[in-house]
This record gives sequence, structure tokens and C-alpha cells, in this order.
Amino acid sequence: MPDVDLTGQTILITGGAGFIGSHLADALVDANDVTILDDLSTGARENVPEEATFVEGDVRDEQTVAEVADDVDLIFHEAAIVSVQQSVEAPQRCHDVTHDGTLTILERARHEDARVVFASSAAIYGEPSTVPLDETEPVDPSSPYGIDKCSADQYVRAYHDLYGLETIALRYFNVYGPRQTAGDYSGVISIFREQANRDDPITVDGDGTQTRDFVHVEDVVRANCLAATTEHVGTAYNVGTGEETTIRTLAEKIRSIADADSEIVHGDPRPGDIERSCADISRARDALGYEPTIALGDGLETLFEA
Ligand code: NAD
Ligand code: UD1
Repeated sequence: MPDVDLTGQTILITGGAGFIGSHLADALVDANDVTILDDLSTGARENVPEEATFVEGDVRDEQTVAEVADDVDLIFHEAAIVSVQQSVEAPQRCHDVTHDGTLTILERARHEDARVVFASSAAIYGEPSTVPLDETEPVDPSSPYGIDKCSADQYVRAYHDLYGLETIALRYFNVYGPRQTAGDYSGVISIFREQANRDDPITVDGDGTQTRDFVHVEDVVRANCLAATTEHVGTAYNVGTGEETTIRTLAEKIRSIADADSEIVHGDPRPGDIERSCADISRARDALGYEPTIALGDGLETLFEA
């Protein structure tokens, strides 16, 4: 648990059986009353800490949301369709969950006067004009996922401006760490890790020169806890590290750490993929006191030791 005074609160975590949400639940459950709402579409029941109340249900269902958010002080809204690729294949489903689900949560938060910390995304920026990019970079999303996160991010701010609700959007860059699942629609590190562990070919999309800013889930949890307690609400913060890594370099690093014999193979580039992504984290550093603590090399080493 980071060094912030977050105790005695009634907290709802949507998507809390998933990768990031379950780490957040772990950090909060000892000192707070935590309920998790998750439909287990990508999350897993065993990720949920024993001390939390678990409700299997859909974030779009107003009745369910009203029940789990009764008297809540704080909502971490993590539930979404997280794969950019999947959103390109099925934009309507992505929209329903990611966009409409966020509105359902915001409306309930308004009713309860609860603070909302929203899992926004670097995907809202699309192809940036420059990197590292700060929060004033114009939004120009290139995928249905990015479009839905973008409008949800703006709704989050609007609920502060219009209704005085305490809201914050955290624009996560590429999060990795334990419990991230490896499947067709998973984050690249979990996919490369599984391929390397099996000595299978590591599958780089395109030429591998595209870049990402990889941030460890522990640092993302810390950012969430800081956002839950800050006075600087009604705005959005980048949550990354400021370090830019190409996907080809990532593949080589993972092959080396795993001591694998995997060949690195190149496929077609992904439609809707972003070429460069790297966060300027000055705003989160100045307003929240956020500081990333885990460098990519160290985070990967620990992941392979686990
Ligand atoms: P995840 O898939 O592990 O977590 C999402 C959780 O939401 C899952 O447990 C899933 O079962 C649940 N869920 C999906 N649809 C639901 C619905 N309709 N009702 C209730 N629950 C539902 O993914 P994650 O990486 O932990 O992502 C958490 C949040 O962070 C998402 O909003 C994602 O868009 C955002 N985000 C993630 C990254 C990243 O790199 N992982 C980066 C930027 C933003
Ligand atoms: C990821 C998150 C998204 C988040 C965004 C923020 C996931 C699944 N997606 O999207 O929720 O909002 O970061 O920046 O967690 N790649 C390969 N080979 C593979 C898999 C991926 O080369 O087998 C490449 C992709 O083409 C892409 C890069 O790796 O260029 C990252 O892909 P991915 O991990 O899916 O993340 P994003 O699309 O950046």
C-alpha cells in the first residue's frame, strides 16, 4: 500500500477481477471496505482477494450497479474491453462496455456523490505530434477503443465541471506485471513472455519499430491511490514512465531474460496501431506526487522469476 491516507472508505472496483483491478484490490482491502463488480469476461475469480465482496455482474446493468454502489465513497472504474485489436474487430461491443458502462458508473456516482477514478488510456491521443506527450496533446484516437476511452475520459471531466463530482481520469500507458493474461487479445509483454517460455517464435507485428511506454502495475496502483486522495480533481493525468521502448527491443530483451531459443518473427502491422507512444508525466508528478519506481528491465526480471 503506497504512502497515502486511504483508509476506512467504502470502495467499488469495477473490473476488479482483472489484471490491474485485482492489484488495486490487494492494496486496498486491508484498510477499506472493498466490493468488486466483474462479469469475468477476461478477469478470474481467483484474482479477487478473500476479504473483498465479489459480485459477478455487468457494469452496464443499472440495477446491479445501484446495488453494488450503495453508499460508496469511491469508485475505481477499470471494467472495459481492453484490447485495441478486439475493438477493431467488434466496435459495437467495445462501445457498449467501455463507453456506455462508464456513463452508467458516472450516473451512479452522481447519485452517491462518490469520487470516480477512471482507467483512461494513452490510446486516446492516437498518433502523437511529438513524444514524450503531455496531457495538452490533442486527442486523435485511431481505434474504436481509443474513441470510446476518449469520450469516456471527457465525460469524466464533464461530470466534475457540470455536477461538481470529484473525478479523475488516469491515462495509463502500457501496463504490465503479474496476472496479466496471455491470449490473442492480451498485452504484448504477457504474449512474448509465454512465447519465450515455450521457446516458440516471438511474433512482432510489423517491423517492430513502433514504441510503447511500459509501466509496472505496482506504479499504476500507486497512481490510483494518489488520485483517490488528491485535491487536484476534475482533470486527467498521464501514468507512464517517460521511457520509450521499441517492440523489437522488447522482444530481444524478453528472449534474453528468458534465456530462450525463440526466433523473432515479423507479421503484418496491426490496423489502428499507434507508431509512437511515450508519456510526459510532469503533471502527475507535480500534482499527485506520482513517481514510477520500477524500470522495465527490473520489472521484466521479476516477472520471469515469478
Ligand atoms: P483486464 O481485462 O484484466 O481487466 C478488465 C476487467 O473488466 C476484467 O476482469 C473483465 O472481466 C472486466 N469486465 C469487462 N467487461 C465487463 C463488464 N461489461 N462488466 C463488468 N466487468 C467487465 O484488463 P486490465 O489490463 O486490467 O485493464 C483495466 C483497465 O485499464 C481497462 O479499463 C483498460 O482499458 C485500462 N487500461 C489498461 C491498460 C493496459 O496496458 N493493461 C492501459 C491503459 C488502460
Ligand atoms: C495497450 C492496452 C490498452 C491500453 C493501451 C495504452 C492491452 C491488451 N492493451 O494497447 O488497453 O489502453 O495499451 O497505451 O492491454 N504486438 C506485437 N506482437 C504481439 C502483440 C502485440 O508485435 O503478439 C505489438 C502491437 O502491434 C503493438 C504493441 O505490441 O504495436 C503493443 O500492443 P498491445 O500490448 O496489444 O497494446 P496496445 O495496443 O498499445
